[in-house]
Amino acid sequence: MPRLPWVIKYRPKRVDDVVNQNEAKAVALKWIKSWVAGNPVKKAALFNGPPGCGKTSLVEALANEFGYELIEMNASDYRRATDIERIAKVAATQRGLTSRGKLILLDEVDGLSRLADEGAIQAILDLIKITKNPVVMTANNAWEQKLKPIRDASLLVNFRRLTKTDVKKVLRRICELERVQCDEDAINFIAERAEGDLRSAINDLEAVAEGFGKVTLKICKAVLRYRDRVYAPYEVVRKIFISKYTWQARQAASQTDLSPDELMQWINENLPLQITDPEDLWRAYEKLSRADVFFGRIVRSGSWDLLPYAIELMTAGVALSIVNDPKARYKWVKYQFPQKILLMSRTKEMRQLRERIAEVIGRHILASKRKVKNDVLPYIKIIFDRNPEYAARLAAGLNLDEHMIKYLSPQNATTISKMAAEIWRETAREALKKHSQPAREVKEEARLPEEQRGVKGGVAERKPRRRRKRKEVKGKGLDAFFKK
Ligand SMILES: Nc1ncnc2c1ncn2[C@@H]1O[C@H](COP(=O)(O)OP(=O)(O)OP(=O)(O)O)[C@@H](O)[C@H]1O
Ligand SMILES: [Mg+2]
Repeated sequence: MPRLPWVIKYRPKRVDDVVNQNEAKAVALKWIKSWVAGNPVKKAALFNGPPGCGKTSLVEALANEFGYELIEMNASDYRRATDIERIAKVAATQRGLTSRGKLILLDEVDGLSRLADEGAIQAILDLIKITKNPVVMTANNAWEQKLKPIRDASLLVNFRRLTKTDVKKVLRRICELERVQCDEDAINFIAERAEGDLRSAINDLEAVAEGFGKVTLKICKAVLRYRDRVYAPYEVVRKIFISKYTWQARQAASQTDLSPDELMQWINENLPLQITDPEDLWRAYEKLSRADVFFGRIVRSGSWDLLPYAIELMTAGVALSIVNDPKARYKWVKYQFPQKILLMSRTKEMRQLRERIAEVIGRHILASKRKVKNDVLPYIKIIFDRNPEYAARLAAGLNLDEHMIKYLSPQNATTISKMAAEIWRETAREALKKHSQPAREVKEEARLPEEQRGVKGGVAERKPRRRRKRKEVKGKGLDAFFKK
């Protein structure tokens, strides 16, 4: 059997296994029992609480204990009309005499962004209206403005941050079951770091136990400290300038996620802000340019053995150049983000966006990304600049996100996004409507010739999937947004 990560292996199977959260459990139990009895006051529940405190676990335990089949969906999926349709269909189906009821879980609803997913929020509200099955949503912060409508439509179930005692209890039990030798002070250390997030505590415990066969404070401190040791770039830069010895500068340089090249940009950008004495400045630049020469050689010839020299020059070399005006190194400076990195990351983002758009369009028109970039994108851009209404239909049909729309037309982005959200919402509503009708009507309607089917546009008018020819299916996403 494959080895399961402990967070999954030790997931609560029953409501009783969920540690703490007595209030949440009581409210949730009452709610699910009202569903079982067939008279729920609220159709949906919103589980709200910090990460790793048992929200998803409780949903699973409820489903398990009350014999529901769990249908799970993540926030990022709500944006696709096809997925909404799938869930709507499940939601609208009444529990049969023989079949099991379904429990619908929409996980992490706070992951929806405000504008682009306005349609998604509306779709969820509509879903809650039509559902004949219990719906649970989870969120880390249900008090966000955008979630207000969902909050109002559901039973709010608040979860608490787990206490250190709770976390320790679970860790101890896992150690026992896994037969891992585990010191009490190590457990304490892990629980302290986790700040109530049991998921991260279990993961830490597993990482240490896996790697070392036992869990002691010494090992935990050595292994788990690493995560805390990474400093923000400006802190590292400060530590480097302040160094009086080579080892200090070297140590500072090792405490960052930045690549050596990026670190050099940071030093380069901020050097003239920290050092003002002309001679000191000259010395520092001299060292930095030396480091640059080394980097050039490393890149050209792949001589990575030169790397330590380059790093030493740009860190210790620069710091120890401060001779004439030693006070300068303690001067408080507001460091700047390197312009070069900014520029590159901006264009990189743009390039990636362009790639993603080309991929989406390419899939729809069966063309390569290169062809789309060369021959199609320029026209799409013109459409987005000149004809927002048409652009919105394209955006909705292709399911472009805010960033993509902004890339295609910075000046019309807001208008197009709003219109697309509106179109999208319409479509989702149609999809939901279709499934809220009694099954018989839908079937009969499907049998009518196309012209007689009385729907204006959107997903609802599509023929049943089975009867479509392959070719038609390809273009379906887009067509649905244009048929009148
Ligand atoms: N109250 C709890 N009782 C028992 N185990 C828990 C509890 N909370 C968390 N866990 C453990 O931590 C893991 C993650 O918990 P869960 O997925 O329920 O967190 P969550 O509250 O949904 O967090 P997130 O908001 O990050 O999704 C679970 O697999 C389980 O092993
Ligand atoms: Mg969760």
